[in-house]
Amino acid sequence: MAGGGPAIFLCAGTSGNARNRKEILMKRNYPHLCSPITIGNVTFRNRMFSAPMGGTDITNDGCIGPKSTAFYELRAKGGAAAVTVSECMVHPATDGSHAYHLDESILNSLASATYTADAIRRHGAIPSLELSHSGMYSGTYMTDKSRQKGLAQWGPSACTRPDGVPVGELTKEMIADIVRSYGHVAGLAKRAGFEMIMIHGGHGWLINQFFSPYFNHRGDEYGGSLKNRCRFAVEVLQSVRAAVGPGFPIEFRMSGSELFEGGYDLAEGCRIAQQIEPYINLLHVSAGTYQRGFGDTHPSMFKEHGCNVYLAAEIKKHVSVPVATIGGLNDPAQMEEIIVSGKADVVYMARALLADPQLPNKVMANREGEIVRCLRCFTCMAERAATATRRCTVNPLIGRELEGDTVYPAPEKKKVLVAGGGPGGLYAAYTAARRGHQVILCEKDGELGGILKSEQALPFKREMYELAGTYAALARKAGVEIRLNTAVTPELAEAEAPDALIIAVGSAPLVPPIPGLDGDNVVIVNNYYKEKDKITDDVVVFGGGLAGCECAIHLGQEGKRVHLVDMRDALAPDANVRHRPLLLKEIERYATVHTGCKGLEVRSDGIVCETKNGERILVPGTSVICALGQRSRTAGVDALRDCAPFVRVIGDAAKVSTITNAVYWGYHAALDI
Ligand SMILES: Cc1cc2nc3c(=O)[nH]c(=O)nc-3n(C[C@H](O)[C@H](O)[C@H](O)COP(=O)(O)OP(=O)(O)OC[C@H]3O[C@@H](n4cnc5c(N)ncnc54)[C@H](O)[C@@H]3O)c2cc1C
Ligand SMILES: Cc1cc2nc3c(=O)[nH]c(=O)nc-3n(C[C@H](O)[C@H](O)[C@H](O)COP(=O)(O)O)c2cc1C
Ligand code: SF4
Repeated sequence: MAGGGPAIFLCAGTSGNARNRKEILMKRNYPHLCSPITIGNVTFRNRMFSAPMGGTDITNDGCIGPKSTAFYELRAKGGAAAVTVSECMVHPATDGSHAYHLDESILNSLASATYTADAIRRHGAIPSLELSHSGMYSGTYMTDKSRQKGLAQWGPSACTRPDGVPVGELTKEMIADIVRSYGHVAGLAKRAGFEMIMIHGGHGWLINQFFSPYFNHRGDEYGGSLKNRCRFAVEVLQSVRAAVGPGFPIEFRMSGSELFEGGYDLAEGCRIAQQIEPYINLLHVSAGTYQRGFGDTHPSMFKEHGCNVYLAAEIKKHVSVPVATIGGLNDPAQMEEIIVSGKADVVYMARALLADPQLPNKVMANREGEIVRCLRCFTCMAERAATATRRCTVNPLIGRELEGDTVYPAPEKKKVLVAGGGPGGLYAAYTAARRGHQVILCEKDGELGGILKSEQALPFKREMYELAGTYAALARKAGVEIRLNTAVTPELAEAEAPDALIIAVGSAPLVPPIPGLDGDNVVIVNNYYKEKDKITDDVVVFGGGLAGCECAIHLGQEGKRVHLVDMRDALAPDANVRHRPLLLKEIERYATVHTGCKGLEVRSDGIVCETKNGERILVPGTSVICALGQRSRTAGVDALRDCAPFVRVIGDAAKVSTITNAVYWGYHAALDI
């Protein structure tokens, strides 16, 4: 194992008297994950590194800016050993992406980068900067796709992209200029205080395009043989080394395999790694390409956690530099095993550190039970594509770090009553208790979680179910009194006389008056976890929104014959733009789809539907899942509106929506008290 074995931690007692000081051995639950590692001439405090997470909140002139600095600083505060700031585009002339640049001619460019590196370093983390060039996919992150198409795109070889965009072949002069700019920008990054450079050679961007037999058809010394396809990367690394000097850690991020037909495979990935190895200090093995395998590069909820670790483990057998791995990692036990078994020396996390930036600190302090786990729901990446902002479903701070990440005690302690123990109510109660209020949360059901309870039946959404348990544990630890089987009524509110009431009573399933929908063969999707046995081998899922589609996939995975019916033409229009394409792929595998079909009657042998041209058909199935949507519990809200001086309605009770809004509104309701 590179970087040595587990560290022994000797902490001094705090008696103040040197002679009475006792040495206390802090026994970490995950000693290998928590042990330092030296890469180049830099020692990192543990093996948990923060992966590149995009140039969102960039300033108009391509500077990192205060918002983004606050985002990265939170990762450093949370205990990650390295924090990678991304993505810095090295050559704007051939890569017009809207991203960070480091350019002395832009006022404040170097200053911005310096403030960012400084904000990371002051919390004990090593700031690293990812240098990149998108090549033929330049402009991918632009929300204005027409502008993206107006750019000049350059790649190893001329071609026309599937979206019709022409790509020019880089000349040798252009290549030389790009190589030079990598070195120049690396030198500036070092001057700004970055102590590691990550060269992005994976995910389908320019360096990867040169590696790839699929994209690179050059006949000169940059194409053809493996050595030639690696030449551009090697020249880039030599240019960077010349700029930063010996010992300065250079990390190379590559895809262990492109994971598509015609791209390079793992065997070739190993040989690429061997070509690169002499020029680097850390090899970072990721997977796939952004354009052709988004759900591989960013493993979706339909994949195993750590599904790409095998790539790093295999490559590690062929190189002697330390190797990092990544992909859907959020469980300290799994990450510890990766290090112990020698599959990798470092684990990187991206989304896990959005969901809980404090994850490394919690692991170091043996508080792993308090980690808020990433759901792999892709809200973060979808927001970036849709609105160019940052957001995370389970963490209301993300994208808003500049507004402050500390929950301060309230100046006046109040009595707060929370109605409803779904995600919104739980997060509101937790936050209010952290502010020092006396908080009582009442849940009318016998179990917390609200709608999240229904997710326990779907293995790929189990983390969504477990989220309620994590929030509940955090709320209890913060001092919330939780009362189960207790509905908040006006009478209860009158008896408790709270200063503030947060109404988080959620929504109820929508069951329209369609004949037969109240039959014994029908299960409401929210209740499926309790009534699984009622579902036969031939099942119709009635309603093709997010909830219906996910249930259909699960039933298909269980080996059932699944028909999916929706009167709309599109499935899951409520799913986010990143999750939806992956969801639809799974639907193709597991269900027969009937869109544009209006359900008229539920029978014991299926659902009678009317097609768009007025034809009546029977969609066959002996049991039915009803997934026709939700409706706010408006009557419950109206009954409670006047039950306290301060009243706030949050989550589905205010508007049928998402966990994201329930948590975000719950957090802010508690801050407002
Ligand atoms: C099947 C399904 C799948 C979904 N999947 C996703 C997803 O993948 N991602 C996503 O972001 N969103 C998803 N949603 C939406 C998401 O679950 C909701 O937006 C979210 O649960 C709303 O949280 P909440 O706390 O406002 O309400 P709820 O989760 O509805 O919780 C409300 C709670 O209040 C309790 N309650 C009601 N009345 C009272 C009362 N008077 N006193 C005390 N307690 C009361 C209820 O028993 C319930 O426990 C899904 C919804 C469904 C139906
Ligand atoms: C919001 C977001 C932005 C990302 N931006 C970048 C980026 O700029 N450069 C990059 O190399 N990878 C980027 N990635 C990919 C991650 O670094 C990582 O490889 C991927 O998310 C898989 O890791 P995870 O499962 O821990 O999230 C981004 C991921 C997320 C979630
Ligand atoms: S938005 Fe969803 S996928 Fe992204 S970090 Fe948060 S929980 Fe994970």
